[in-house]
Amino acid sequence: MEQSTVFITGCNRGLGLKFVEAYAKQDWHVIATCRNPQDAKELNLLAQEYPSIAIYPLEVENSEQIKHLADHLNFEAIDILINNAGIYRSCTLGNLDKKAWLESFAINTIAPYEIVISFLPHLHRGNQKKVVSITSKMGSIDDNTSGGSYIYRTSKSALNSMMRSLQYDLANDGIATLTLHPGWVKTDMGGLGAWISADESVNGMLKQIAKLNLSNSGNYVDYAGKKINW
Ligand SMILES: NC(=O)c1ccc[n+]([C@@H]2O[C@H](COP(=O)([O-])OP(=O)(O)OC[C@H]3O[C@@H](n4cnc5c(N)ncnc54)[C@H](OP(=O)(O)O)[C@@H]3O)[C@@H](O)[C@H]2O)c1
Repeated sequence: MEQSTVFITGCNRGLGLKFVEAYAKQDWHVIATCRNPQDAKELNLLAQEYPSIAIYPLEVENSEQIKHLADHLNFEAIDILINNAGIYRSCTLGNLDKKAWLESFAINTIAPYEIVISFLPHLHRGNQKKVVSITSKMGSIDDNTSGGSYIYRTSKSALNSMMRSLQYDLANDGIATLTLHPGWVKTDMGGLGAWISADESVNGMLKQIAKLNLSNSGNYVDYAGKKINW
């Protein structure tokens, strides 16, 4: 049977690294991208163990690098594209950090859009045709009952909105979208006090991604499949 291919951003640590391991174990061809492959020790070790992992440099803020990689991989078919790379920046009420806010939009919102658009030809060649973005429940306006976290919340709300538009704009191409909250996870971002392990989160997310198809496209759910209000 033909090997399926998944494309993932931010693969050197955290959830991205776990995604790579989980798909490689299932014998997928994994296009694993990260900012600095030469420093990605754990990812390189994984690639030695699983030759189906191919590592490429990608700073998701860098539009030229996105386009260059898309051109370089123009022979590839991508079944699943996962926008995973993200940053958490914050500013308290009255302490605007405009640079951090703009950087967060560039990485958490605009980059996922640019990556999907640049890799549309590869998705068209794939069999499964799935676009997944790792968002956060903190991007839910409905769920915001505590305030704060202006930068992160708005960048993820905007990502959610972008994914909602992609749901409609890509439906005619047969491409399904999923906006996925990983839970509060023990990674560098989530911290040690988080509720679940990266393994538990990724195992759950893999199940939600496997269930994705055109008839349930556009959902905003957590790793356990629970729907989140926008
Ligand atoms: N952990 C949680 O509790 C939690 C909860 C909700 C949502 N999320 C979301 O889940 C995703 C993964 O988070 P995580 O917990 O695995 O965080 P993490 O441990 O901090 O890892 C973040 C990853 O994103 C990469 N990244 C950041 N900026 C990048 C850029 N400009 N270009 C390329 N890669 C970049 C990082 O690479 P470098 O090492 O080069 O910085 C790293 O690989 C994020 O989108 C995050 O918002 C996480």
